[in-house]
Amino acid sequence: MRMTIGEIREMKERGEKVPMLTAYDFVTAKLVDEAGVPLILVGDSLGMVMLGYSSTLPVTMEDMLHHTKAVVRGAQQALVIGDMPFMTYHVSTEEALRNAGRFIQEGGAQAVKLEGGETVAEKVRQIVGCGIPVQGHIGLTPQSIHQLSGFKARGKTSDQAMQLVKDARALEDAGAFSIVLESVPFELASFITKFVAIPTIGIGAGPGCDGQVQVIHDLLGAYQEFVPRHAKQYANLAEVMKGAFADYISEIREGTFPTPQHSYTIDREIIKEMENQFPAR
Ligand code: KIV
Repeated sequence: MRMTIGEIREMKERGEKVPMLTAYDFVTAKLVDEAGVPLILVGDSLGMVMLGYSSTLPVTMEDMLHHTKAVVRGAQQALVIGDMPFMTYHVSTEEALRNAGRFIQEGGAQAVKLEGGETVAEKVRQIVGCGIPVQGHIGLTPQSIHQLSGFKARGKTSDQAMQLVKDARALEDAGAFSIVLESVPFELASFITKFVAIPTIGIGAGPGCDGQVQVIHDLLGAYQEFVPRHAKQYANLAEVMKGAFADYISEIREGTFPTPQHSYTIDREIIKEMENQFPAR
């Protein structure tokens, strides 16, 4: 049975931590799902770790739907959340509803995520009103990097901290089922976690959140362009991959790969017949 937003909420009530991970393709989603991660986010971070952009801003609905479909095919148990890309929910409520609907109808996701607090609360209310679960995302919101002057922690000043608390409450009141807190001082994240009844999922927001999320390429040590302070590498996949590629190249050059074990055979008589019919020049 697939995880539901009701069960995620109950995890907070029981004091059970909620792990969440990003995934962008079938194979990874299947492994994450089989490991028992209850929430999978098809993050617009795919723009950076899958498509090589320097930010999430160029990501389109088509990019997101393409990857969401693959993740949904791989994940049988986890609740899959599609991340609404930049400018797909800002212009009008109508566009926000239509694009949120596409994640569910075309992508097969069970929920959507969008960035912002009070400023997007009305849109969250409308999307939830259509029966689509919404996860909020406040703190460092990468779609606003230019307005925020870069990838910096948020909520360190009194004004910013107050605003984040108001944003969290606005999202809760609008019907969001959970809120991502990104790069927020851990004391503030703990405060917000107690202040709202819905689960908070932290990334760079300390251990007081109800759950944690990581970008899977950071966790696996696969993305080398930039390692955020909040990322913990549980593996060094970049080295494992480079080692495998180097071994592959050497074995081909040395002639130790492929072996008969990796090859197919044909009856000798057929080869002889070919040699007769097609003599070498
Ligand atoms: O796009 C993403 O991966 C995210 C997470 C960092 C929460 O928004």
